[in-house]
Amino acid sequence: MDLNGAAAIISGGASGLGEATARDLAAHGATVVVADLNEERGKSLAGEIGAIFVKTDVTDERQVGEAVDAAVGTGRPLRVVVSSAGIGWAGRTVNRDGSPHDLAAYRKVIEVNLIGTFNLMRIAAAAVAGTEPVDADGQRGVIVNTASVAALEGQTGQVAYSASKGGIVGMTVPAARDLAAVGIRVNTVCPGIIDTPIYGFAANAEEFKAKLVAPVVFPKRMGLPAEFAQLVRALIENDYMNAETVRIDGGIRFQPK
Ligand SMILES: NC(=O)c1ccc[n+]([C@@H]2O[C@H](COP(=O)([O-])OP(=O)(O)OC[C@H]3O[C@@H](n4cnc5c(N)ncnc54)[C@H](O)[C@@H]3O)[C@@H](O)[C@H]2O)c1
Repeated sequence: MDLNGAAAIISGGASGLGEATARDLAAHGATVVVADLNEERGKSLAGEIGAIFVKTDVTDERQVGEAVDAAVGTGRPLRVVVSSAGIGWAGRTVNRDGSPHDLAAYRKVIEVNLIGTFNLMRIAAAAVAGTEPVDADGQRGVIVNTASVAALEGQTGQVAYSASKGGIVGMTVPAARDLAAVGIRVNTVCPGIIDTPIYGFAANAEEFKAKLVAPVVFPKRMGLPAEFAQLVRALIENDYMNAETVRIDGGIRFQPK
């Protein structure tokens, strides 16, 4: 799939992995729509890379519809959909103080990470399906969703987050099968530990990050958002990548804690 001249919509595109992807796809000729809750960062990035910012809560049908409409309204065919909006949460099934996991928090993580990803995928795919195919295979577009290695080997305290990301992995094959009928590929990326603002700006953030890096095999460091973006672009550009879940993690395998 050639990015040049195509429109791309990126949820969570105002920060971290989504921001790096927005920069990379724009640099390779895509007209990018950044769909994110964070208006300040989103607008500033959009100004810098010539993208369009649409304030979007991925859990809201109307707002996602408006973001997709903005992508269609660029006049470039919408061909690329990247979901990177997401939130973290720590809490055990039974907490250390004996209380059960907060159900509202569990619902919130599922709502943003899993339902938000599906919400963008379904609305954007319907728009992509209305474009003309670009090649002899009948291809119209590509969807890349962001899960996590926590979907595959979640640690203690990650039950909500891992369930949300496991759901994204689980959608990959059936969504690819559904969308084959309209010429759309679907792939999922599972990042390990990538250096983004998701780890916070707290005073002990560096100490926390050093602990996270310890089990990385090689190279012994956090991943770079640009490395994630490069993989997303490869999944878009390589037409034979479909229904796949790919790790990008420096070989890390999460331990129980
Ligand atoms: N950084 C990592 O190590 C890592 C590892 C595995 C998976 N991930 C996943 O990658 C994705 C991006 O993470 P990141 O590290 O770039 O985090 P980040 O916090 O830097 O960026 C996340 C973005 O999502 C946006 N967002 C949050 N809720 C939203 C909502 N309801 N609607 C629209 N936008 C919303 C935020 O405003 C933010 O701009 C997340 O889904 C995260 O779970 C990250």
